[in-house]
Amino acid sequence: MLLTCVVLVLVLSCAKASLAGNVDTDTMVVLERVSTTPPEFAHLGAGTGGISPDEELTLRIALSHSNIEGLQERTYAVSDPTHSLYGEHLSTKEIAEFVNPPAETLSVVTTWLTSRGITPVPLSSSPFNDVLQITVPARQANVLLGADFQAFVHEASGTRMVRTLSYAIPAEMVSHIRYVHPTTAFVPPPARAATSVTIPASCAFDTNPGCLQDVFGIPSDKANHSSSNILGVAGYVEQYANEADLTRFLTNTRPDLNGSTFSVITLDGGTNDQSILLAGDEANLDIQYTVGVASGVPVTFISVGNNTQDGIAGFIDIVNTILAMPVGKRPTVLSTSYGFNEQDLPVSLAVAMCNAYMQLGAAGISAMFASGDGGVGGVQPTTCTQFVPSAPGGCPFVTSVGGTTNVPPHAASLFSSGGFSNYFPTPSYQATDVTKYVDSIGSLYQGLYNTSGRGFPDVSAASHNIEIVLEGDVTFVDGTSCATPIFASIIALVNDRLIAAGKPVLGFLNPFLYSAQGRAAFTDVISGNNPGCNTNGFSATSGWDPVTGLGTPNFDALMKAVGL
Ligand SMILES: *[C@@H]1O[C@H](CO)[C@@H](O)[C@H](O)[C@H]1NC(C)=O
Ligand SMILES: *[C@@H]1O[C@H](CO)[C@@H](O)[C@H](O)[C@H]1NC(C)=O
Ligand SMILES: *[C@@H]1O[C@H](CO)[C@@H](O)[C@H](O)[C@H]1NC(C)=O
Ligand SMILES: *[C@@H]1O[C@H](CO)[C@@H](O)[C@H](O)[C@H]1NC(C)=O
Repeated sequence: MLLTCVVLVLVLSCAKASLAGNVDTDTMVVLERVSTTPPEFAHLGAGTGGISPDEELTLRIALSHSNIEGLQERTYAVSDPTHSLYGEHLSTKEIAEFVNPPAETLSVVTTWLTSRGITPVPLSSSPFNDVLQITVPARQANVLLGADFQAFVHEASGTRMVRTLSYAIPAEMVSHIRYVHPTTAFVPPPARAATSVTIPASCAFDTNPGCLQDVFGIPSDKANHSSSNILGVAGYVEQYANEADLTRFLTNTRPDLNGSTFSVITLDGGTNDQSILLAGDEANLDIQYTVGVASGVPVTFISVGNNTQDGIAGFIDIVNTILAMPVGKRPTVLSTSYGFNEQDLPVSLAVAMCNAYMQLGAAGISAMFASGDGGVGGVQPTTCTQFVPSAPGGCPFVTSVGGTTNVPPHAASLFSSGGFSNYFPTPSYQATDVTKYVDSIGSLYQGLYNTSGRGFPDVSAASHNIEIVLEGDVTFVDGTSCATPIFASIIALVNDRLIAAGKPVLGFLNPFLYSAQGRAAFTDVISGNNPGCNTNGFSATSGWDPVTGLGTPNFDALMKAVGL
């Protein structure tokens, strides 16, 4: 038993000696708890990297927001083409008014910590002050939070993590604190949604930018309003985007873009090492299918290192970094080909991450994520008895991108992850679509998925036999990782035309995509399925489906849909 003062009731009294020497009889309330460690994690005992009571822990205390519901309402308003506020995106300062904690919250929590000799500091990387950071020895953290911090290792990656199975806060803090991390979250490193395949020759089997231009009607002429229309490409898990490989790729497939390159931003200790043997298949794919598809749009590779501050692999840190950048110099589109299984994230962090994407939407930044490659089994194929939604596709404020197989894209790929979130309810923009699909399959898979969850993906694009250059050689990859930068590039090119016409960029896409004009810009994908968990998975069908979403985009139709 690892826990000291935590039992099966949520509220308990747990007398403890405070460091200031007073007798502390706070009523402690368990905020988060897990029953066991997930099987991929092993406990580290003494002598094998186990924890010492003096080990310094950096903990982040997430404070209650002033008005997150208000931000949600505004985000939907500025993203809904029928609303009078459409396109009136918020400044980071305006977003901060919703996100920052009320003054009372800041003062109550600060007083609690300072009364125990702890000095909290705001999170330096964030433009908001909704997170306080403290650094304390493990023994003091155990007392403060009624916790039992231990060391664990994620065996596959060798990553050491200090966690507790449970923690508590004084009852008076419950309305002021959302969560404390890292505590009970055993989050594995994010999975990338790309795998290598060997197949060549002919447009039907070898997908390159030229094929994509034909199939999706993507223009090849260069964007003209480039300086403020930046396409951001997220990089995680030490995946580096190689410049020499990009040059070779452009020489092979887009000689007209010869000389195009990308800029780099790093956070959390990230780098973009140019040693050719460190070129990452995922990072190269993402850079080659943005620079090589969004002709002339400036592309920024955002490399997130391991020194993350958010307890979720940097997925929130990257949002804070982007929102701290000046408008005009930060991405208007963010493409991410990495993700998690929703069940591996505690609800607290999944909600915080989704709120971060809501902030991007409020600011007019479109966030696209690969839906994952495990069919109904999640981000990667897994053994499962219940369908595994991927994350953050289940967050209603991201655009989740699934995969299609052939050119032309009439079939869903067998791996395209899709389904329904267990954490986020169906948002109104897709309520009719989700009801229609769920009704259409009747009792099939009853109990295996959540009929009232947010359905994903939203859209899909080519994701099979995609030609890239890796370490100097042409090779082929599969995965919703391919579809995501392709779709992000198309949106970046639409934004370029919108800017040229003096209109605002698209921002949070989904209310537009699911509107009558938006959906008309997509070619419905009506065959194929996404097997997993020993089932055939869901089937693509006429209308929205949890395999290919609304279908694949057509550039000219999108231009019509935005009124150009
Ligand atoms: C950029 O300008 C050139 C010349 O005016 C034009 O031919 C081209 O179509 C423009 N590109 C876009 C993306 O509007
Ligand atoms: C692209 O530019 C490089 C030098 O920047 C040159 O060596 C190469 O031949 C060019 N390739 C094409 C296809 O124009
Ligand atoms: C960074 O994290 C990745 C994934 O967890 C791991 O494979 C790698 O070894 C870590 N690198 C360092 C320098 O800690
Ligand atoms: C299904 O989704 C709803 C809406 O998000 C949620 O309230 C409910 O807890 C979920 N059910 C399960 C079994 O996860």
